[in-house]
Amino acid sequence: MNDFGPVFPGGSASEIPPMVDPYRLRPQPPETVETQGDDPRVSQPIPFRRPDDEQAAASAGGVAVADPALEVGVEVPAQEQTLGPTGRPLPDLPNPRPVTTHGNARVIAMCNQKGGVGKTTTTINLGAALAEYGRKVLLVDFDPQGSLSVGLGLNPHDMEMSVYNLLLDRDTTLADVIVPTNVPGMDLLPSNIDLSAAEVQLVHEVAREQTLARVLGPAVADYDVILIDCQPSLGLLTVNALTAADGVIVPLECEYFALRGVALLKTTIDKVQERLNPKLKIDGVLGTMYDGRTLHGREVMQRLVEAWGDTVFHTVIRRTVKFSDSTVAGEPITTYAGASAGADSYRELAKEVAVRCLDV
Ligand SMILES: Nc1ncnc2c1ncn2[C@@H]1O[C@H](COP(=O)(O)OP(=O)(O)OP(=O)(O)O)[C@@H](O)[C@H]1O
Ligand SMILES: [Mg+2]
Repeated sequence: MNDFGPVFPGGSASEIPPMVDPYRLRPQPPETVETQGDDPRVSQPIPFRRPDDEQAAASAGGVAVADPALEVGVEVPAQEQTLGPTGRPLPDLPNPRPVTTHGNARVIAMCNQKGGVGKTTTTINLGAALAEYGRKVLLVDFDPQGSLSVGLGLNPHDMEMSVYNLLLDRDTTLADVIVPTNVPGMDLLPSNIDLSAAEVQLVHEVAREQTLARVLGPAVADYDVILIDCQPSLGLLTVNALTAADGVIVPLECEYFALRGVALLKTTIDKVQERLNPKLKIDGVLGTMYDGRTLHGREVMQRLVEAWGDTVFHTVIRRTVKFSDSTVAGEPITTYAGASAGADSYRELAKEVAVRCLDV
């Protein structure tokens, strides 16, 4: 020993000492420690038994099993054991009932001021899945980025009319702007960058917050569902969407940062509900881009359910590159990769939305 600590045998000052003293890695004889009062240096090993061991022991008639699901002779309904990714038992959702007539649409705004959380992806694919179940669907691109229109194969520069004209030109009718999509039963009100001017121009309008509600009014009689894809902000366009809507779906990326800002969104929804649109309610919070293999993903999902309870949809959209691929192809995942897990998730979401707020 010198003043600078231990000297390693045979070493010199220029040598880097080993990270771990190799002598410590040698197997040590088991210590026979008597219980030594409260001495914190003495730690007893925590008994650990894997579920497999417990089952084996139980079937050998040995150990009582703590988990009733593992106990011999106790029948636990299979349903109770099937927990979904949200940690709650998965309901068996029926297919939406077939409809023979259309109309009395429920207007749903896809809203979250955070960007890139899956609003547009959810609008396209939920719409396409509901159309597969025979619902007549109108998608409204209410984002000047025009992603919804591009995602359905439209060229933003080729648009003769867009939602902008509908909002600000009294002579433009819905029929002038609505275009069919490649999905049977699903139409689109397209947008492009022009819509960003509307945000400024609407400020001077009378009842500026109700403008979208007014122009969408006649469509309610023709469709079963109208989905509005909002831009990532809580500005006047989004307030218009919330004022026109019966319900809001909040897509939330299963990432820690996504949880921030949700309180502000809730306050905005509450204010619109209180001052402009008493019928407005939150139809559901949708976990998107979920990766159940990571602890982080599972923890965020747990936090979501703690904060929002049953408002969180049982359906969760997992992260898969198929969504980006289908956007490039300009079509919903339900047609681009109809048999994929992503397509099935949106069909499940369509069933859940139907049960929650359409078939009532
Ligand atoms: N479940 C998913 N797995 C993987 N990628 C996804 C998933 N959902 C969406 N994406 C991709 O993430 C990106 C952002 O998605 P999307 O455009 O739907 O978000 P957004 O909330 O509408 O964004 P913005 O706020 O900019 O309008 C897109 O490239 C999309 O293809
Ligand atoms: Mg978008």
